[in-house]
Amino acid sequence: MERIEKCFKDVFKKECEMEYFSPGRINLIGEHIDYNGGLVLPSPITLGTYAGLSLREDNIIRAYSLNFEELGIIEFSLDNLEFKEEHNWVNYVKAIFKYLKEKFNTITFGFDVVVYGNLPNGAGLSSSASLEVLFATICRDLYSLPITNVEMALLGQKVENDYFGLHSGIMDQFAISLGKKDMAILLNCDTLEHDYFPLDLPEHKIIIMNTNKRRELTESKYNERRGECESALGKLQSVLTAKNLCEVTLEELEKHKDLLTDIELKRAYHVISENIRVKDATKAFQDNDIAKFGKLLNASHTSLKNDYEVTGPELDTLAEAAWEYDAVGARMTGAGFSGCAIAIVENNKVDEFIKNVGDKYKDKIGYNASFYIASIGNGPGKL
Ligand code: GLA
Repeated sequence: MERIEKCFKDVFKKECEMEYFSPGRINLIGEHIDYNGGLVLPSPITLGTYAGLSLREDNIIRAYSLNFEELGIIEFSLDNLEFKEEHNWVNYVKAIFKYLKEKFNTITFGFDVVVYGNLPNGAGLSSSASLEVLFATICRDLYSLPITNVEMALLGQKVENDYFGLHSGIMDQFAISLGKKDMAILLNCDTLEHDYFPLDLPEHKIIIMNTNKRRELTESKYNERRGECESALGKLQSVLTAKNLCEVTLEELEKHKDLLTDIELKRAYHVISENIRVKDATKAFQDNDIAKFGKLLNASHTSLKNDYEVTGPELDTLAEAAWEYDAVGARMTGAGFSGCAIAIVENNKVDEFIKNVGDKYKDKIGYNASFYIASIGNGPGKL
């Protein structure tokens, strides 16, 4: 925040009046099943996005990011919220305003804002969902909007789906908007029913391992995977009443597999088996059976590698090195294609683990991975 306050003075020549924070997230297990009506188990982390702002009397927003200083101040009017390439990250802010203004008429003044995120960008820790929820939270406060945290999450998802054309599910925005300190959220993405339980691992650390290979979700195969799931579901619905892929059982899939192409069968197999793994992993965690929890994480990675095909050499190298160097469990987290993996490691093995996995990665991939010890942080709010 000190950096933001100083920058605010330098850039806008006045003091910043209020400060906000919104976290990033990791997903423990339940990957690529949020848009298939499945269960997911994410947690907010202490890394996230900060904003300092001061109000204006006109309807102008001026925005500056410490992560993109070369872009300078980006200015837009609340009357013109269409996407502009050169507005870069600020398009997320415009999109939030666009959909809120369609519903509420109290949004009549703007503000100056400096943003700083300590989440590695595009690394699968949901830097964009963090930004969306940050600005939804700011707007809710400033304009006294009667919206719930669930509605803020849905708004963030709408920004991805409708403004940017990325057909992502609800997991990231939900995990961030409804995040609670030291808690994992077991979320049913079909009904949005959710339960919190303490992510209490006194003898272990969760290590975030960043491949440092940049990923752009929109340019990735994300929408293609979603399309493959939809087409598998459509075909299965000719003989089953399932509303989504996670309602189909493995027995039903086996029985009707001839309806699907090989690719559709692999995608559906991942989705259905991953949903079962989430249930088993939640039970293992609650029974304090960390060894079993870890094995399910490993199985999730293998399924994402072989059946869903969203890992790639960088994430596979990290996960496999983690397994080799005694992680209790390790897997990619988020959309995949690069980004981050997570590993659960005994407290006293952490330093050695990071050194060994880091060396192996550098050796095989040619550049360094980064490692962070995850702490489970708060949801969004005013500081
Ligand atoms: C991205 C999307 C989420 C989810 C994950 C994969 O993070 O934003 O909705 O689909 O990928 O589990």
